[in-house]
This record gives sequence, structure tokens and C-alpha cells, in this order.
Amino acid sequence: MSKTFYVTTPIYYASGDLHIGHTYTTTLADILNRFKKSVGMETFFLTGSDEHGQKIETKAKEAGMKPKAYVDQIVEKFKNLWGLLDIKYDKFIRTTDLEHKKSVQQIFTKLLHKDLIYKGNYEGLYCVSCEEFLIADQIDENGLCKVSQTKPKMLSEETYFLRVSKFSDFLTTLFDNDFLTPDSRKNEMFKNFIEPGLEDLSVTRISLKWGIPTTENPEHVIYVWLDALSNYITALGYAQKDETLLNKFWSADTEIVQYVGKEITRFHSIYWPIILNGLELRMPNKLISHGWILSKDTKMSKSLGNVIDPIAIINGFSSDALRFYIAKELPTERDGNFTEELFVECFNTNLANNVGNLISRTNNMITKYFSGIILEKTNIENHSLIISGKKLIDDYISDMNDYQINKAVEKVMKFGQDLNKFIEEEKPWVLDKEGQTEKLAEVLTILQKNITIISHLLAPILTKSYEEMLSQIGYNQKLLNLQELKKNDIEFDKITSRKIIFERIN
Ligand code: MSP
Repeated sequence: MSKTFYVTTPIYYASGDLHIGHTYTTTLADILNRFKKSVGMETFFLTGSDEHGQKIETKAKEAGMKPKAYVDQIVEKFKNLWGLLDIKYDKFIRTTDLEHKKSVQQIFTKLLHKDLIYKGNYEGLYCVSCEEFLIADQIDENGLCKVSQTKPKMLSEETYFLRVSKFSDFLTTLFDNDFLTPDSRKNEMFKNFIEPGLEDLSVTRISLKWGIPTTENPEHVIYVWLDALSNYITALGYAQKDETLLNKFWSADTEIVQYVGKEITRFHSIYWPIILNGLELRMPNKLISHGWILSKDTKMSKSLGNVIDPIAIINGFSSDALRFYIAKELPTERDGNFTEELFVECFNTNLANNVGNLISRTNNMITKYFSGIILEKTNIENHSLIISGKKLIDDYISDMNDYQINKAVEKVMKFGQDLNKFIEEEKPWVLDKEGQTEKLAEVLTILQKNITIISHLLAPILTKSYEEMLSQIGYNQKLLNLQELKKNDIEFDKITSRKIIFERIN
């Protein structure tokens, strides 16, 4: 098993504010990263911003700002959001970072020298007003550019191409391995792009100013995707003086996981592996292509005006509530929904009524029947719920290692329900009345130990609540490694306070 772990999110366009859709990917990566730490791995978590290209240049102009000043203030907002959501990345890369720009120029040079990039002509319909080659999708039924409503010209522009076409066998082999998940996306990529024959990709523009110029021919500016994809290695120091991080986290024995949304899967599953191959670097272990968060059944996006502002959700509820919803209700294999009703229901059912209630009842009973600390010796090793608790740890680890965060959470919630049911069945209040102190101590110790497990397993998600969850049942130490957690010798402190952790939302 690898000892090092590297996880990345896409770098978000610094063109406007982020919405719930963007927080989805970043939260999943953060949860997975925290989980990997909890099993003792050394981890590196990268996120950042994609700051070049025509769109951003135009946005800046509209705002009456220089592009760099424009992206600077957007990036501050990104970082503020990640702070509010308790996202603990190790590095935030910006494509305007000097080190990144120099590395990208060297990547271009290396691929050029290897004849994987060549100079040619890009032919296509060009919109003068937008200064952009148009693809079919950008042209309306009258043959006009949808944006400017002008007639595009057939034009050819000099450009550098990446030789994608010669990598068909390489990609077929790569796709045969389990590199891209889910399978549906793998089939889609194969059917739509690899099978019909791969086309070379234009990677520079003469008409673009806001980007990284090539060293060889500075009027050619590197077009956004070669610039953007490279961030995953330039952030680790690729082609820079200090490559320590690269040697550690892009090494053969690191587990490398990349999260991307479905619409950018093509770039990450086809062009990115080709670039890596050209640079003689290893492939990532897993590319997880996730669906979209829908709002009223359509993709949440600014242009459709149906975006939900994550900051409003965090301020109105809590970062943990949002992180929990993302982890539990939005599996990566399919599109998911986000509405305030669903969000509140998820919180009440799982956090208020299940986990919160369990902790509160246990806290209450240990305080009432044992003055906050159980000193009686118990013999519960072989109790079915102690065995289930240990099994839950293994199942959870296995789901998380399969990147199935929602399944792992589902199992924890099911166990919470089982424990609540156990209280109903054992009726500690009757045991107390009947003076069955030994049995009462056993029941409450079983609950206490298993709540410790539940809290540990939810810690990567409920980053602001887990300490209080544990302290409510008398556990005030640092989190244990999940393997250590399976041992039974946890000592609890006297419980001294009572607090409702997840208050029901009405
Ligand atoms: N800058 C490029 C990525 C370059 S990575 C080398 C980009 N940026 S983006 O800001 O437009 O989108 C970034 C990510 O956010 C994508 O993975 C995209 O799928 C995701 N999402 C944007 N809207 C989304 C939803 N409504 N739901 C889920 N994810 C969505 O593309």
C-alpha cells in the first residue's frame, strides 16, 4: 500500500464567484485527504485558480480593470470561501504564478523538442468580433456567431498542435486499466473521441494576449488547457529548482487521485495523459469524473441564473452541514440535487435525529446514572455491537479507499440508527430502576465506545463538530489512527457538560 497520497481539484476559472457546484469537488477532495491522513498517510492536497484566456481578459475589460488586478480580487474570494468551508489544502496554485509560467514554457519546449508539438495551421470559422475560432456549438441556425451575431469568416491561423492522433493505442491501454471512473464516462470518452479517431489539439493562439507566451515564438501564447493541466505538476515544482515535492508526490509509489466534473473529463482523460507521457511522467491512479449538481433539474450555472451561493448556506446553517450534505447525498456517479428542502431534511434526519440524539441521550444517561463517569468494570468484548463497531471501521476504510464517500457515510448512519434502537431495546431507565448497575454500565459503555468510533469516522466531514461530539461523551484526547481505534482500551473522562450539537432546523 502507498504511504503517500496526492489529491487535486480542477483549478477554477477566476472569472466570477464560485457556487455550490464548485464546492462539491473541493469538499470531496478535502474529505478524502483528511481520511487518508487518518489512516497514517502523508498527503498533499492541491487546488487553485485558472487565470488566463480570452474570457477572463474580456471580463476584466468589462470591469475596467487590468487582468491581473481582476483575478487577484477573485482569487481572494476563492480563498475566503475555502476558509469558511474549512478546506485544508496544502497549496493553492495560480496559473499567473511566476514559477508556474516558467515551468509551462519549459513543458512546451520539451514537447516541441520531442516532436510531440509541431507548428501548423488551424483552419476554421473565425469570429472577428470575439477573436475566437468557433466550434459548431457556437454557431446558430443562421450561421452566425451566437455571441456577436456576426458572420464568421473561414480563416486559418498559425498555431502549434499537440500530436494527439498518434496516442490512440496508448489511450486504449490506459482506458483498459481502471484509470477513469465511472465506467459510463469511460465508455463515453472511448466512443466519442478515441474510436472515431483522435484529432491533434491546437495549443497556442496568436490572437490571445492574456496568457503565457512560448519561449520559441512569443507571439504564440499557450492556449488555456496546456497551461491549466500542467498546474498539477508545476505546483509540485516540475522543472523548477526544487523538485522535492514532485519526487515525493508524483513518484511511482504515491496514490494520485484527481477529481474533475464530467464536462472537463475529455481534457483530463485524453490530453493530460498524453502530456504526461510526453514528459515521461507516470499516470495518476484514478481520475474521478463526477456529475453535476442540478438545481431545479438543470445544471447549476451562472448563465442560467439558478446558482446557490455556498456562503449563504454556510452562514445560514454551518460549514459542517454543507460538507455533510455533499458527502452523503451527492455520489459521484450521477447528477445530484441541491435544494434547501433536501438540505434541511438531510440535516434533521441524520445529524439532529440520529447522531445528535444518540450523543445527547448517552451523555444524559451517563451523567444521570453514573455522575458522568462509569467506573464499573465491564465485560463487553464479545457483544455484537462492539464487534459491529470494529467491522464498521473496516468497511468504512474499504469504501473510502474505493472513493465511495457516500457509501461510507451511509454505513455510519445505519450504525447510528442501530445504536438508537439498542437504547430502546435495553431501556437503561428500567435497568436503573431495577438496580441492575452492572448491565447498565455495560449498555452505556457500549454506546460510549461506539459513539467514539462514529465521531472518528465522521471527523473528515464534520471538521468543526467532531471534537464537541467526542467531548460530549467524555473523550477529550486527540483523534486516534483508525487502526488504533479498533482496540478496546479507550479511557473516558468525567462528562461535565451537556450541549445540543445538532439542533433541529425547523
Ligand atoms: N478551469 C477549468 C478547469 C481546469 S483544470 C486543469 C474549469 N473551470 S470551471 O470553474 O469552469 O469549473 C471547474 C469545475 O467545477 C469543473 O470540474 C466543473 O465540472 C465543476 N462544476 C461547475 N459547475 C458544476 C455543477 N453545477 N455541479 C458540479 N460541478 C460543477 O473548467
